[in-house]
Amino acid sequence: MANIEKTEFRLPEEPQGSRASSRRDTVDPAAQAGEQDAELNLRPKSLAEFIGQPKVCDQLGLVLNGARRRGVTPDHVLLSGPPGLGKTTMAMIIAQELGTSLRMTSGPALERAGDLAAMLSNIMEGDVLFIDEIHRIARPAEEMLYMAMEDFRIDVIVGKGPGATSIPLDIPPFTLVGATTRAGMLTGPLRDRFGFTAQMEFYGVEDLTRVVDRAARILGVHIDHEASTEIASRSRGTPRIANRLLRRVRDYADVHGDGRIDLAAAQGALEVFDVDSLGLDRLDRAVLSVLVKGHGGGPVGVNTLAVAVGEEPSTVEEVCEPYLVRAGMIARTGRGRVATARAWLHLGLEPPEGALGVHDTHSEE
Ligand SMILES: Nc1ncnc2c1ncn2[C@@H]1O[C@H](COP(=O)(O)OP(=O)(O)OP(=O)(O)O)[C@@H](O)[C@H]1O
Ligand SMILES: [Mg+2]
Repeated sequence: MANIEKTEFRLPEEPQGSRASSRRDTVDPAAQAGEQDAELNLRPKSLAEFIGQPKVCDQLGLVLNGARRRGVTPDHVLLSGPPGLGKTTMAMIIAQELGTSLRMTSGPALERAGDLAAMLSNIMEGDVLFIDEIHRIARPAEEMLYMAMEDFRIDVIVGKGPGATSIPLDIPPFTLVGATTRAGMLTGPLRDRFGFTAQMEFYGVEDLTRVVDRAARILGVHIDHEASTEIASRSRGTPRIANRLLRRVRDYADVHGDGRIDLAAAQGALEVFDVDSLGLDRLDRAVLSVLVKGHGGGPVGVNTLAVAVGEEPSTVEEVCEPYLVRAGMIARTGRGRVATARAWLHLGLEPPEGALGVHDTHSEE
């Protein structure tokens, strides 16, 4: 069992106003306050237990086994991908597979180089240092990290002003695991120092069904196959959302039935929580509706959309759009957002002549 050192871990703080709050709670892919405990129990503990992401699992298995055979610490690993797909889970699994300790921190917690120096000076040979939201690390800490990653050495500055001296400090070989939802925001030098980058992809319905079934087993709830498939297909490709929807459905089944989850319970609960057949919530549908009914399908600028639904542009752009684009409902074009035929159909309307078809939907980002 890997020893997980959690004392230094702080959840990254979201900048004020960057995210819609209560309106998005059910299908927000970001973790919610108080959700950590529920999630901890549901995290797979080994690569073999990890559902989906076959490519990442295979590649990572090779990286870890290769290093183990050669008796060295594995290359630094960058886990990149949208929220809720299993980056933190995978970091814990890496330490577990290596049989070493995991030390966790996050980019926003490393404000000064000293914060990182304190973490690094506690590291033992072979440890895994996990830095969540690594793209938010402060510049001085980032520069110290370059040297630590490359040479397993840092310079600690002691004192201030002209009398300051730098003391070199050797660090035992360790493996850095960085996680980021914004790989594009990483600086080149930092990205280059990772030996292996794992790109986590959204999950298909089959894999998410297995995630739901597994979570139900752990929670001790009985669930039908149709019900777990129903939850999976409304989970926006994201295990965190699948687990959350399962908890909501369980509440509903406890209140309205005998606690067993069948298709009717799943559908009933998801209707109460406003999650439609494709996993869109009220805000997503509002955006589609403004685009389709208010602007004939677009193109419409993101600011206009945001004002019309009463949200910040960043919320529409970062919270709604990624999934709407992925679901083939909207396309981002140079002139604004355009609704595809699929969006019209989803709102129960006949798409006009010339609306983008499902298959030629594209994203310019
Ligand atoms: N492959 C998987 N199989 C089963 N459960 C999973 C899997 N991936 C993720 N989960 C579950 O989804 C939840 C979220 O996963 P995790 O915290 O690892 O995501 P993350 O990528 O770190 O998200 P964030 O970007 O918000 O930090 C956890 O409760 C975990 O149990
Ligand atoms: Mg995480």
